[in-house]
Amino acid sequence: MSWLYQKLARPVLFAQDAGRAHDFTLNVLARAAHSRAACGALSAAFGAPPLPVSLFNLAFPNPVGLAAGMDKAAAAVPIWEKLGLGFCELGAVTWLPQDGNPPPRVFRAVADRAIVNRMGFNNPGAQAVARALEAWRKSGRWPGHPVGVNLGKSKLTPLENAASDYANSFRVLRGLADFFVVNVSSPNTPGLRELQNKPQLDEILAAIQEIQSSGQAKPILVKIAPDLSLEAVDEIIELAQARGIAGIIATNTTLERPPSAHAATRRIYDEPGGLSGAPLRRRSTEIVRHIFRRAKGTLPVIGVGGIFNADDAWEKFAAGAALIQVYTGLVYEGPAIARAIVKGLIRKMRRAGIRDLKEIAGSAPAPS
Ligand SMILES: Cc1cc2nc3c(=O)[nH]c(=O)nc-3n(C[C@H](O)[C@H](O)[C@H](O)COP(=O)(O)O)c2cc1C
Repeated sequence: MSWLYQKLARPVLFAQDAGRAHDFTLNVLARAAHSRAACGALSAAFGAPPLPVSLFNLAFPNPVGLAAGMDKAAAAVPIWEKLGLGFCELGAVTWLPQDGNPPPRVFRAVADRAIVNRMGFNNPGAQAVARALEAWRKSGRWPGHPVGVNLGKSKLTPLENAASDYANSFRVLRGLADFFVVNVSSPNTPGLRELQNKPQLDEILAAIQEIQSSGQAKPILVKIAPDLSLEAVDEIIELAQARGIAGIIATNTTLERPPSAHAATRRIYDEPGGLSGAPLRRRSTEIVRHIFRRAKGTLPVIGVGGIFNADDAWEKFAAGAALIQVYTGLVYEGPAIARAIVKGLIRKMRRAGIRDLKEIAGSAPAPS
């Protein structure tokens, strides 16, 4: 199945501008999401075997999730489960609707299995996404796996008002998803990464927690950048523990660029934006490992960055990840990626004689 994607579908998609290919694919998936027959066919082709994980009081059918950015408007919510994913993270959603940066704003560096993007949080706004989620719930097509929402700051909102911007989105979406991610790490909204500083992040988390004080509390995670120093990561860990944050997502895209011998790749790397995919793998694993060690395994980490196969996934679990996510891997490997990773993990677990991925957490040597 992955062979079919790579030989047939990918060349057609990769012949187009990356942003257009994404819009086209998401459109097809959104339509399929409304059809029981299409959902059934996708599930038969791409569904993954069970590898259950229980975390945040939620039941994950397997630990391989969809990373934020793929389904920003909650257009295809039921599909991600059919593609074998154990959970999905929708968004980023901002309080104000916004168009994002002008295209072209996504670029593939194929030789490096990487993407550079400067989307800039294009999304229809929290209220429209809330309506979309309500419609999916009413349609009876709500997926059986956990659904998260990634929250970003509206571009028009000044940094000093960030806390109320995040809180407004959280207020309208809170009852509609299973977990929420405070995204303070996208490189494509000016100044956003400054919100990773302790006082600013504390203010955002306090505003969200105030809303949580009435009714059922939802797990809140914080998504961080790979470009933080380990000292800055330590500050976030401290804050997360003090505030009772459910976990950390490590990591978002990087502003760093690796050297490349290919002129075409260097041209892509000259584009402003965040880099994802294979060149990000090592650094994101390093951050996962650091958090796991520093917090002595008490702060769950979702590992994301450069995962294409079961070996890459295993590396993240060995570093201490409790769950993982894919984005660029899905673009390059196609819709069979989750199934392939889950099957590969089950094989590896059997070989290692373990019954739970937790047993390898923290066992990792530095990645090669
Ligand atoms: C086109 C694109 C859009 C993205 N949009 C978001 C976003 O809205 N919010 C977010 O937290 N991360 C976003 N990301 C980052 C991914 O969720 C992920 O953290 C990153 O790409 C590293 O994983 P990967 O190497 O598997 O792609 C985006 C990534 C890409 C490539």
